[in-house]
Amino acid sequence: MMCYEIEGGRRLCGQVRVSGSKNAALPILCAALLNDGETVLHHCPAISDVAQACRILKSLGCRVKRQQDTIWIDAKDAFEAPLWEEMTGGMRASVLFLGPLLGRFRKAVLGKPGGCAIGKRPIDYHVAVAQALGAVCREENGCFLFDGSNMQAGKVVLPFPSVGATENAMCLAACLPGKTVICGAAREPEIYDLQQFLKAMGVRIQGAGTDSIWVEGKEISTSVSYRVMPDRIEAGTLLAAAAVTGGKIFLSDSDWLTMTGILPFFACCGCQISVKGAEVGLKAPKRLKACPCLLTKTYPGFPTDMQPLAAALLTTAKGTSMIMEQIFENRFHHCTELNKMGGRIGCSGPVAVIEGVRHLKGTTVCASDLRAGAALMVAGLGAEGKTVVTNGQYICRGYAGLEKKLAALGGRVRLMESR
Ligand code: UD1
Repeated sequence: MMCYEIEGGRRLCGQVRVSGSKNAALPILCAALLNDGETVLHHCPAISDVAQACRILKSLGCRVKRQQDTIWIDAKDAFEAPLWEEMTGGMRASVLFLGPLLGRFRKAVLGKPGGCAIGKRPIDYHVAVAQALGAVCREENGCFLFDGSNMQAGKVVLPFPSVGATENAMCLAACLPGKTVICGAAREPEIYDLQQFLKAMGVRIQGAGTDSIWVEGKEISTSVSYRVMPDRIEAGTLLAAAAVTGGKIFLSDSDWLTMTGILPFFACCGCQISVKGAEVGLKAPKRLKACPCLLTKTYPGFPTDMQPLAAALLTTAKGTSMIMEQIFENRFHHCTELNKMGGRIGCSGPVAVIEGVRHLKGTTVCASDLRAGAALMVAGLGAEGKTVVTNGQYICRGYAGLEKKLAALGGRVRLMESR
């Protein structure tokens, strides 16, 4: 078990680099399984979810080596093997192996994927994608068994623009001969990054970023090298950390074009935002302003992964804010913890009403999931005294050296083992 110890009240200033995107690196690592050849991925974040994806690749016969932010995968001798719950249980993104496994081997056995407790998170859309392309699925002892021997290219219609189900559809279609169209696709920038990776492997694919994606599948056997996009949620987290401390920071290696839903929120809170090339700057006012109505939406709207961070900021903003969480049905655990620090947040179903208080007071709080944990760290940076965030291992799942980045900006944050 890990915990973060934060001494609040220090203004964050300076420049910091954004790491590669977790939510782009994970599907791309899974898609490397499609390649009967060698894949080199640059700019992969050093996070435990990436380490887990590499372990799963190894269990499927891939050779995997890692040097700093570069991961080398040789999937020539890969084989189909069941991914039991002990492999998939800790990480929701393990469901992203479905498309590549089923596509390459025409068979897949998948334990129930785990991950953050932010809602029911079923996998029915993923199953429907496989079925739309001719696979047969049955559930046995909590495992999903897929038979893809009669699969063929065709049409997939998603009932909701699920990010993961779109990525699985793209990977499946990438290795089915013929043309597949994916309708109702998610439009997140990470989908575009996966498209660019598949293109780099020679797949003919277009449309990512819109709600229709066309794929012409083929057998993939190539040597490919690809750089993962910057992490827009890590970027937003660092901006939130600066904003809550009244700070001024510059992010390098970021991509503001992918942050369309995020940057206007900071502006609404009274921060000055500047963008220039791959740099994003934020200068915070002495006290943030409330945000009367913040709705989480699919891209290009305000992302659900930033919602806990927004809640942390608005807790001490001037005025009353309202957040409506529209993507996940149970994503307000952090509000209970923020209230322990002196916040005044009332939650009812998908709505949180936040009455801004002047200050939060440091105490021991518990991270219920990855982004909730990051939100509590941000709250701790702005609070008086010491905050301890327990269950810090959740934060390590998705942030590479967050404590070091915050310390480089002048924050006092330590990551420690806890019992
Ligand atoms: C991805 C992101 C996650 C982000 C989320 C929404 C990765 C690794 N994770 O998760 O950080 O919060 O997008 O932007 O990229 N749903 C179903 N059935 C399904 C699949 C999803 O009902 O089979 C529901 C989910 O419970 C949720 C909604 O659809 O309410 C959106 O989920 P989805 O877009 O699939 O999120 P993930 O791909 O799991």
